[in-house]
Amino acid sequence: MSGEWVIGIIGGSGLYKLDALEDQQWIEVSSPWGTPSDEILCGRIGHTKVRFLPRHGRGHRIVPGEVNARANIDALKRAGCTDILAVSAVGSLNDDLPPGRAVMVEQFIDQTKGRPASFYGTGFVAHVSMADPTCARLSQWCADAVEMAGGEVSDGATYMAIEGPQFSTRAESKLYRQWGADVIGMTAMPEARLAREAELPYALMTLVTDYDCWKEDEEPVSVDQVIEQLNANSEMARKTIEHFVKTLPEHRSPSPIDFALEDSVITAVEMHDKTL
Ligand code: ADE
Repeated sequence: MSGEWVIGIIGGSGLYKLDALEDQQWIEVSSPWGTPSDEILCGRIGHTKVRFLPRHGRGHRIVPGEVNARANIDALKRAGCTDILAVSAVGSLNDDLPPGRAVMVEQFIDQTKGRPASFYGTGFVAHVSMADPTCARLSQWCADAVEMAGGEVSDGATYMAIEGPQFSTRAESKLYRQWGADVIGMTAMPEARLAREAELPYALMTLVTDYDCWKEDEEPVSVDQVIEQLNANSEMARKTIEHFVKTLPEHRSPSPIDFALEDSVITAVEMHDKTL
C-alpha cells in the first residue's frame, strides 16, 4: 500500500515562511487543544503538498514554554500531514559539532517542566513507545538534502530539552555533556512525543548556533550570538527543505510509525479489567 506525501514542516527560530512553496496560502486551522502558534502556510514544492507552521509564530511572538505543541501537532494532523520535519536552533554540547553544523537528532532527554505533553488522560489511556522517537528514513533523507544544499551534517545526536527561557548554568551544561547529550534546545519536547501519539513520523534537523556555556575557550551563549548564527544558517535550512521535499520517493510507503498506536490505546475500563 502506498499513498501521497503531505509534509509538515515546523519552522524554528529564524524560519517563519517558506518562499519555495508554490500556490501558497496561509490558512487558519482550529484545534480543540487551543490555539496553534500561527496559521498554516499551505502549498506545494513540485508535486508534493507541504504544510508549514512557524513554531514561535510569525514575528517570533511565543516563548518556548508557551508554545502550544498539542494544538500545533493536532493542527498539522488536521491539515492532512503524513510526516513532519521539524527545524530547531540549538546549542552544541559536543566539540565535534561547531556552529553552522546541521545535526539530525535520534534521541531526547526531556527536562522540560509543566508543559502539557500528551493527548491522553481524562478517561483515555495510552502508553506509546518512545524508544526510537525519530523517524530514521526521514532523518536520512534530510541529511542527504543538507549535503545537496552544500551544508555539513552530523547524525545520531541526542537532544537535551530544557524548559528555558533562560539558558543553562555552567554546571548544568557540563552535567548534560556527562549525560551524553550532543545538542541543547528548548522546543522539540513535548513536540516529538505528541507527534508520536498522533502517529506522525517525526524528524528533527537542528542547526547549531553556539557552544552553550561549557566550553572554556568560548564566551557563554548570548542572544546576539544566536541571532547572528541563525541568520547565517537560515538560507541553508531553506535550501535543505526544498531538496528534501523534491527528492522524496514519488509514492509514500507506510512508515512503522503509522501503526504506533496499535495496541497502545485502551480505555480506562479495559486498563482496570486487565490489571485486576
Ligand atoms: N537554542 C540555541 N542555543 C541554545 C542553547 N545554548 N541552549 C538552549 N537553547 C538554545
